[in-house]
Amino acid sequence: MHSSDSVSKPSLLLTRHLPDAVEARAGRDYRATFNPQDTPLAGPELTARAAGMDGVLCAAGDRFDAATIAALPESVRIVATFSVGTDHIDLAAAQARGLVVTNTPDVLTDATADIAMLLMLGAARRASEGERMIRDGRWTGWTPTQLMGTHLGGKRLAILGMGRIGRAVAQRARAFGMSIHYFNRSRLAPELEQGATYHADAEELLAHADVLSFHWPATAETKHWLNAARIERLPQGAIVVNTARGTVVDDEALIAALRSGRIAAAGLDVFENEPNLNPAYRGLPNTFLLPHLGSATVETRNAMGFRALDNLDAFFAGQEPPDRVA
Ligand code: DGY
Repeated sequence: MHSSDSVSKPSLLLTRHLPDAVEARAGRDYRATFNPQDTPLAGPELTARAAGMDGVLCAAGDRFDAATIAALPESVRIVATFSVGTDHIDLAAAQARGLVVTNTPDVLTDATADIAMLLMLGAARRASEGERMIRDGRWTGWTPTQLMGTHLGGKRLAILGMGRIGRAVAQRARAFGMSIHYFNRSRLAPELEQGATYHADAEELLAHADVLSFHWPATAETKHWLNAARIERLPQGAIVVNTARGTVVDDEALIAALRSGRIAAAGLDVFENEPNLNPAYRGLPNTFLLPHLGSATVETRNAMGFRALDNLDAFFAGQEPPDRVA
């Protein structure tokens, strides 16, 4: 579906259906091609839809691997992703092809940090079991020992990756009375650290993790990082929370530890092979599961779309896009 704007505007393919306000701006400023059915596009179908386009506004989950990038029409000079994560795009291949890539940092920090707290509370306070009890009509009334969980206050939160989102989670967790421990490639300045304890070795941090929260990108180095050996380094009954990317966890190892009680509970918003997550997670009572909702607020999704369009606007105005990653 093409908007009827003047041909002087750059042409833009939106690979997914985006929030109304974002599509309205895209339609105003570009000769935009929308995807109103929100049908995921991949491989040859994606490159065919990109024919004649100057730019592509894609989203997390749209695979721009080396083959897809090589097959993109010559006309496409920029891919702006509606996400902070860029693991779906082969940035080296983009760079080699001279394709500019931008992402949307900052604007989803608070929404994602909020979801990390929801996962922590949901896992620690057995929210899934309680909800299911009510929905299944199995609740026969309050009892003194029903669904006793774990208090977050007084516990140690270990954060892997103290970037914007990690720091926003730390800020929230302090209000719950948690003490903060973290690993980061480099130690933060005191004004950003805010009294958190730095661990120069991620492996060593694990022993301090009553709750472990991931804020790492998906890379070859982080793939299946939380494996059986590292789970053994966690305190008995630790809680694992993941709002980053599913690939940082070795699912088989985490599922075995959740079954045995070695890990008390897990709160997961992201999974390897989404949406086809390891089905064992669904059957475990001690998992609190969300369908990749980290940034899913109206305010945040609008801001992500506007940020992607800001990058496209800058690029087509001949300026350096503010959030260029390739
Ligand atoms: C991102 O932006 O990378 C999120 O995972 C999608 O909201």
